[in-house]
Amino acid sequence: MKNTFVYQAKRPIVKVLQITDPHLFKDEQTELLGVNTQASFGQVLKEIQQNDTDFDLIFATGDLVQDGSEEGYRRFVEMLKPFGKSVFWIPGNHDFQPKMVEYLNQPPVQSAKHILLGEHWQAMLLDSQVYGVPHGELSQYQLNLLKETLAKYPQRYTLIVLHHHLLPTNSAWLDQHNLRNPHELYEVLAPFEKVKAIVYGHIHQQVDSQWYRYQVMATPSTCIQFKADSQNFALDAVPPGWREIELHPDGSIRTTVKRIRQAEFLPNMQEEGY
Ligand SMILES: [Fe+2]
Repeated sequence: MKNTFVYQAKRPIVKVLQITDPHLFKDEQTELLGVNTQASFGQVLKEIQQNDTDFDLIFATGDLVQDGSEEGYRRFVEMLKPFGKSVFWIPGNHDFQPKMVEYLNQPPVQSAKHILLGEHWQAMLLDSQVYGVPHGELSQYQLNLLKETLAKYPQRYTLIVLHHHLLPTNSAWLDQHNLRNPHELYEVLAPFEKVKAIVYGHIHQQVDSQWYRYQVMATPSTCIQFKADSQNFALDAVPPGWREIELHPDGSIRTTVKRIRQAEFLPNMQEEGY
């Protein structure tokens, strides 16, 4: 598979950082519902650096840029350079893929969507974007690619990565923007026993749950947070953050969500839409 990246792990446990939904803009002063997304993303990256976590690579799970601007994608790459780690990405509903392809695929950012992680694991990054609309769907092309990859490496524990959510957040306004064909994903995954977990962004909130036999993880955005269990649009005052995922050689996963502590990025809580 030409789109495969081979990551030679230095230890038996592979540690992945997930950052999601930074929503950068062309102008670095622009705010999203009262939060300067450039500043909050910078603060998340700063606190990751300060935590001195010895991680292996970064997965950026979509909505990297809010306005599809070249400048946003360029800054995204520049801001990740200091880590010296490979960064892999998928598009979110807000992203503009022609610009992503043009500006993102330069070191440390990689274009590969299938990653062999050390000896025991692999990750498959899926494109669930339906251009121009907020909800997601996995195309037949994506489903076929996933099936072929799993069939080629069935012995590896597998982490599935996509932007849109599978499990309801119990927020009606947000759940209409979900992945529309999770049953088709399940049909592809079901025969492969070593598929372990699914991780996504999009919903700007933490989820640690289960879907069928898969561990499901969702992660706070690096900017604004959405409130769970809210019929109408509502923001949450919890801080931005990121997720750390340890993939162990026996197929088990240890994961933590971490949030920034040294700065505050409070949105305009009275905003009624997004
Ligand atoms: Fe999104």
